[in-house]
Amino acid sequence: MPGVFDRTRKKALVRDISSNFNKALSTFFGEREPIVDIAKMQHKGYIDALQSCGVEVEILGELSGHPDCCFVEDTAIIFDDVAVICRPGHPSRANEVHTISERLKEDFEIKFLSPDAKMDGGDVVFTGNEFLIGRSTRTNDNGINELSEIASKYGYSTQVIDVPNSTLHLTTVCSVPRNGMLIVAEGHLKPEQISGFQDVIWIPNNETYASNTIALENGKILVSAGFPITKQKIEDAGFEPILVEMSEIMQADGSLTCCSLFIE
Ligand code: GLY
Repeated sequence: MPGVFDRTRKKALVRDISSNFNKALSTFFGEREPIVDIAKMQHKGYIDALQSCGVEVEILGELSGHPDCCFVEDTAIIFDDVAVICRPGHPSRANEVHTISERLKEDFEIKFLSPDAKMDGGDVVFTGNEFLIGRSTRTNDNGINELSEIASKYGYSTQVIDVPNSTLHLTTVCSVPRNGMLIVAEGHLKPEQISGFQDVIWIPNNETYASNTIALENGKILVSAGFPITKQKIEDAGFEPILVEMSEIMQADGSLTCCSLFIE
């Protein structure tokens, strides 16, 4: 039904880690090239974690020509029966969308953004009743306006948030543990940018990476391993954290949400 976003996250599309993952883009979290074999093991652990929470996972094959290909979140925005195919803001990622669009057209009406638009799916966060859209180095005003126009036709409002230079995407510093609630890393977004939210779990700046989470059914929530303060705060808020080892994927500025596109 238009305007009713199904947040139950029953099925995820993921893509295997590229054999050239060590060449993935990295500006924020990366301190060295990721080790491809360890990244592949961690990606398998990520898939296992989703499956252990009851999520069906469809795995697409790696693209050796696209080191960032596992970050499928950036390639499309999906709601209702529509898949909006993104225009990734970094040229090296632009062609990742073609195989995704071929797959998504089996299940969704496909909508494309104009060539003047730039948009990474990592700049789009659905809060339960609206889309927060980050204006960033990867997402421009044309992208924001075009996505807002499509979303409004389906009954969804949008709010634009300026993504600071301290981070890559909006999803890098912000996620939604349940409708209307945010987990946000201190030192990136200003409180006034999210003043419409009463329920915010602020996590310390030195655990920024852990602000990106995936909330699933029954209070379960995927959280990156190694961030004890965030884990405790999420537990204190009544959720059950499922820890996922992400250290190599982090080296390529990829977070938990980056590695999935939820299609059901
Ligand atoms: N490595 C993820 C990105 O820069 O898009």
